[in-house]
Amino acid sequence: MIELKNIFDRAVNKVKENPGTLLGMLYPYVFIIIVIIGLYYIANLDNVADQKIPAVTPDTSVTKTLQLADARIVPPIDIFKYKEPAPELILKGKNLYNSICASCHNETGAGGGPASVGLNPAPRNFTSPDGWKNGRTLSGIYTTLQEGIEGSSMIAYNYMTPEERIAIAHYLRSEFMTDAPLVTDEELAALDQLYSLSEGVKIPAQIPVNSALEILALESEQKLKKIEDAIATIERDKSVQAVRIFDYVAADKKLAVSSLALSENWKESENEFINFLALNVNQNGFNGRIFNLSDDELNLLYNYIKNLL
Ligand code: HEC
Repeated sequence: MIELKNIFDRAVNKVKENPGTLLGMLYPYVFIIIVIIGLYYIANLDNVADQKIPAVTPDTSVTKTLQLADARIVPPIDIFKYKEPAPELILKGKNLYNSICASCHNETGAGGGPASVGLNPAPRNFTSPDGWKNGRTLSGIYTTLQEGIEGSSMIAYNYMTPEERIAIAHYLRSEFMTDAPLVTDEELAALDQLYSLSEGVKIPAQIPVNSALEILALESEQKLKKIEDAIATIERDKSVQAVRIFDYVAADKKLAVSSLALSENWKESENEFINFLALNVNQNGFNGRIFNLSDDELNLLYNYIKNLL
């Protein structure tokens, strides 16, 4: 015990004489604690780096409902005629640009239009040569308008006529760029070939999703009503010979009427009708007894059902 006290006293004296040694004595412990904190931090790096609360990013997706438009054929154009833009063409491009594109790209062409807020990527600044994906050539801009830029709010303006796209491309190049790459015959030839411009272009019809859904719902409603009416008539016509034949060959009357109502081919001829019955027998609601029917009976059945549906 005395020993221990002596050692302790000596140590205290040493510190009293030279306070700097205290630091030396504590240093290893401080070092160990720092290392332990470091190891703890590394072990929990995943948790530290993981942000528990997701960052709120603005919804930059732009949803636009298509307008109803008929399919149309655009007559062939000679793209080489548009190599040097006439003033009317540029004017046409300007009007289109200001009404369709300026909301995002701005009337100045520098981006930051009113509809561009929060868009990521942001609408291209046409006055800068940087960052272009399809490029600033006439054909590059044409391609952008034809195909859109995937993963961005730059949609495809494929409902426009080729002339409209060319007009806009020329307008962008002449209005917003001082050093636009020159138009070459090669790029025009390539564009012509890529989009069959000299053969004429077929622009597909477009129908708004909502209208398409309404039409589908209406059609299936009408089909359903037709099936229900047909079954009711068959029930009522019990004494008609064709119905007796139908009852004889129908395994499941509802299924038989439905499968006929949902197909059109069999209406073409009695032969098609027989094929329809025979080829899908059991799945179409009819049973194998159809093979026992005579020609006359088949004919009666065909005419009756064709009238019904
Ligand atoms: C809803 C906003 C919006 C509208 C409207 C819009 N754009 Fe864009 N546009 C963008 C965005 C966003 C980009 C950038 C896409 C990217 O970098 O991925 C872009 C890029 C472009 C580019 C550059 C393509 C490239 O090579 O990088 C061109 C050219 C362009 N738009 C032309 C037009 C024209 C012409 C119109 C009108 C017919 C138009 N845009 C309408 C949002 C829009």
